[in-house]
Amino acid sequence: MTDTPRPRRSALYMPASNAKAIEKARSLPCDVVILDLEDAVAPEAKETARLQAVEAVKAGGFGRREVVIRVNGLDTPWGAADLAALAAMGAAGAGADAILVPKVSSAADVKAYDAAIEKAPEATRLWAMIETCAALFALNEIAATAKDTRLTTWVMGTNDLAKEMRCQQTADRAPFWGPLSLSVAAARAHGLTILDGVYNDIESIDGLIDVCQQGVQFGFDGKTLIHPKQVEPCNLVFSPAPGEVDWARSVIAAFALSENAGKGAIRVEGRMAELLHLSQAQRLVAVSEAIDEADAA
Ligand code: COA
Ligand code: MG
Repeated sequence: MTDTPRPRRSALYMPASNAKAIEKARSLPCDVVILDLEDAVAPEAKETARLQAVEAVKAGGFGRREVVIRVNGLDTPWGAADLAALAAMGAAGAGADAILVPKVSSAADVKAYDAAIEKAPEATRLWAMIETCAALFALNEIAATAKDTRLTTWVMGTNDLAKEMRCQQTADRAPFWGPLSLSVAAARAHGLTILDGVYNDIESIDGLIDVCQQGVQFGFDGKTLIHPKQVEPCNLVFSPAPGEVDWARSVIAAFALSENAGKGAIRVEGRMAELLHLSQAQRLVAVSEAIDEADAA
């Protein structure tokens, strides 16, 4: 049986300068809260955002939700101070579940951020944005750093990627098919969790659902979001459908029958199931149970 993954269907960003949004996040059904110090925060509000993010983590009250802080890059005027503030918070006993770092483009970038959070609590993980053209040509090397750093998760930054590529964000996301698919493959090759980019059209829930479904098809574990109204539809699409869970349970039950002992391929309800499908089915049931537990909390 594979490890039970923690549900990360929905990861809601909010500017950490917006105290009202942070308060609201404590009761929203998102799996992850991302307190942003970077793109969503104007230069004049950087200090306030940093202070409020630290205070929010210290104050807690996020329940089952993971709390992640997205910092400014080390190549900006604020990055070093952001990372130092988070490390100091760790020394005081509180810490975010993860620190999300922007524009990672090489293995050396991951190592620099990993070194910068050396003093953060043991449990604090490193998450990285994949959002530069350079990163697309170093995906395997970047992902491979997971074995000797705190890196566990990638987040696609599709707005920055579109800006750098100068591509258009079409409804079918065709310009991103290569980058998204290769990023998922590199993440899987090194055991990383990977979250899809945001959908900017807040008012179009149908459009959001379509793009969430596409994210599931690509193999993403979940999606980053920008508005509370996107959370529930996204959770629904990234939860296994009841029919899929039933099928998975049938496969598990069929392989457990004595007549199927030692077999590599069997017939289940008219379809072929191999041992690889058994392990997929076990993972799907574990994910579904973890989601039920999270939704009940
Ligand atoms: N997280 C938590 N709460 C949020 C939120 C978010 N991302 N976005 C909006 N809200 C809250 C508002 O505070 C408001 O709360 P209230 O009903 O208690 O007053 C409510 O949800 C409705 O907000 P609304 O008026 O629809 O949003 P807006 O027009 O004021 O703001 C955005 C739109 C895009 C500016 C805002 O949603 C936002 O800041 N999103 C996140 C941006 C971000 O972090 N980007 C970085 C990654 S791409
Ligand atoms: Mg960005």
